[in-house]
Amino acid sequence: MFGDPRHRTEDIRAADPLGADALLAAVPAMNAAGDTAALAVALRALLPDPDRAAEWSVGDALAAMRDLGILLGSLKRHGVQPLAAVPEALPVLELLGRRTDMVPRDTVHHYTTWNPVGRRRRSYTGHPAEARLQEAVRMVFPGLVAALDDCSRIARLEPYDPGFATALDRVARHLRAMVDSIDLTVAQVSPEYFAVTLRPYFEEVEVAGRDYLGPAAAQVPLWPVDLTLWQCDRPDPAYDAFLAESLPYALPAWREFHDRHRGGVSAVSKLSAAVDRLRADRLPSPLSASAAALGRVLRILKTFRARHIGIARKAYSDDLRRYEEGSGGAPVALLRSILDLTRENETMVRRSTERRRPAGAPAGPTAA
Ligand code: HEM
Repeated sequence: MFGDPRHRTEDIRAADPLGADALLAAVPAMNAAGDTAALAVALRALLPDPDRAAEWSVGDALAAMRDLGILLGSLKRHGVQPLAAVPEALPVLELLGRRTDMVPRDTVHHYTTWNPVGRRRRSYTGHPAEARLQEAVRMVFPGLVAALDDCSRIARLEPYDPGFATALDRVARHLRAMVDSIDLTVAQVSPEYFAVTLRPYFEEVEVAGRDYLGPAAAQVPLWPVDLTLWQCDRPDPAYDAFLAESLPYALPAWREFHDRHRGGVSAVSKLSAAVDRLRADRLPSPLSASAAALGRVLRILKTFRARHIGIARKAYSDDLRRYEEGSGGAPVALLRSILDLTRENETMVRRSTERRRPAGAPAGPTAA
């Protein structure tokens, strides 16, 4: 998965390098009882010999991090810094982080995509709503992975090229899963369950003096789409800071994507510049197709974000919230500013073409 042969989803899900299946099945009961002693014993019992772990495939190392991660989040939920209770876990987490080129704790990929389904599912609570949220998050990754290639293509093309609109239309199809995911979440995961029961398991955990965020949905990489479509040349302090904080949790290939595209020219800027350069009153048809396709993608992003902010507001409302910030380290106010930025870009694309009519279109205020 993710274009990296070392990340074969099925293999990672099937892997149980720590022999953790039976012990992890008991974690929801330990959590329900708040039994930190049992959780610490479990973490210690699962720790592999570092020499053996150094020989593992990357897939096995990812699966091992997934399994240790469930115990890290569980201990912290009950007020115990896991490495204070089990210091011998530190070299193992650092080794697994190095072997996989990822942070030295589990991420949203470990908790959702790489998590087995069925009886082997790793879970903090064992509650059906936790499984539904894991599934809702898991379902967006194939589309986001596919969108990555199309976003790279868009970054190389000019809006006059018919391939620009075609690639944007593919991105729109890939992003539909984001809307379906949030609809499923709203229908199946109550804000109360998230706020009161699940959110505490996503607390940050200290590893070698640094706090690492939990494996929450805020790490879902929607940002590569923003980056190439509008964000790379439109700095915004709040979004930029959130992105900087999220990047370390991304897969290596996604971090490379960020390095390649930051400081580039966004699709929105290329389109606006092409429209501004036009002398004629009419948009040539490839340009008008590109504008329409870009508008469609931005509308899907807007729809996801508008629905997502609804559930986030409820889960972080005064009566429910236990934390000021989301598990991704940012407040709900950030979601408002990202939604506003998405809307502004959509409006900009619409306005830039409203002044012009596509060649051959009848004159009228709504043309374009
Ligand atoms: C109970 C359900 C959910 C709640 C309460 C919630 C809450 C939040 C909050 C408060 C943030 C701000 C950053 C932070 O957490 O520190 C955030 C960010 C984010 N969440 Fe969620 N979320 C939920 C479900 C989901 C789902 C199902 C997805 C998608 C699969 C998702 C995707 C994102 C993304 C991509 C961001 C980054 C900001 C953006 O791109 O707009 N969330 N979420």
